[in-house]
Amino acid sequence: MNHERISIIGSGTMGHSIALSISLAGLDVKVWGNNQGDLERGKNGFLEKLEVLCRYNVITQEEAEKIKGRVVFTDVLEQCLQEATFIIEAIPETLALKQEWFQKLDHYCGPETILASNTSGLSPSDIALHTHYPERTVVTHFWNPAHLIPLVEIVRGKHTSDQTVERALALLKKINKKPIVVQKEILGAIGNRLQYALFREAQHILEQGAATMEDIDAAVRYSIGRRLAVTGPFLSADMGGLDVFESISSYLFPDLSASQTSLSAMNHCVEEGRYGQKNGAGFYEWNESFSKKMNDERERELIEWVKKDLKQLS
Ligand SMILES: NC(=O)c1ccc[n+]([C@@H]2O[C@H](COP(=O)([O-])OP(=O)(O)OC[C@H]3O[C@@H](n4cnc5c(N)ncnc54)[C@H](O)[C@@H]3O)[C@@H](O)[C@H]2O)c1
Repeated sequence: MNHERISIIGSGTMGHSIALSISLAGLDVKVWGNNQGDLERGKNGFLEKLEVLCRYNVITQEEAEKIKGRVVFTDVLEQCLQEATFIIEAIPETLALKQEWFQKLDHYCGPETILASNTSGLSPSDIALHTHYPERTVVTHFWNPAHLIPLVEIVRGKHTSDQTVERALALLKKINKKPIVVQKEILGAIGNRLQYALFREAQHILEQGAATMEDIDAAVRYSIGRRLAVTGPFLSADMGGLDVFESISSYLFPDLSASQTSLSAMNHCVEEGRYGQKNGAGFYEWNESFSKKMNDERERELIEWVKKDLKQLS
């Protein structure tokens, strides 16, 4: 399909930033939210992010006006779905809710319309369980914030057709993403499996008393964190020398954490209601100035990458 007509179901954290990704690339998009308050929050999030992109000179004010004109926010489902050829679902991460919505969308939309889920880790086959056309269901997992992170993991389910995967790939490339295809449903897909392997080991090192959490964070930020942005694990191994990596693996693998659950520091935080930045304390204390500093720093770094990516495209 040359010109997909895209609609997004859900205007929350992911829905509105996926819409920004799409409209930034010059495509029209409709976003459905489940009530006016929800839509207002989505629209405000969209406009704030657009403003930040202007402030960092990623786009001009004139371009921002055009981008705004490409997005329709609505709480009328029929208006959102009308003529859609590619629907991205970004509603809460509950299997029963997603199944219910896919059944509804399957019933409403012609069999040519792709139904993509932004699920963080649910199985596309399970999500499509009650649909008549499971071949057009696929996961397109955008990362948060979707307009700044290039990776989108396309996860195919047992019945997902090649054509569905190809259309997802074509659309994601068109909006300047770096899509990968996960050929087999695997819990957490790729990115989250790797991220959580690192998180488990970071907790393990802390629990051993080998280093402070600030130093563990610094160790990642100032070493592999910098390098992994250029070379993934296999490229890093090849460039380091496989004989060396094999020798280190042989004594290190048996010593790495194989814990089946979160470790004690994390459990203590959760038991005490310390959920992190969102409620003021987690591993770190999140007062207003620390929150602002970290949000600004992360946004600035990610935007620098977006600028580099855009330069490569031009
Ligand atoms: N937030 C993240 O960091 C992140 C990253 C990647 C993937 N995801 C996945 O994206 C999906 C959406 O996550 P989010 O963080 O945007 O959630 P969110 O809570 O911010 O937004 C969900 C949106 O879904 C709609 N909604 C709410 N309740 C609904 C209901 N009962 N029925 C239908 N629609 C309803 C609303 O428009 C709401 O804004 C989830 O599957 C999540 O796992 C989230």
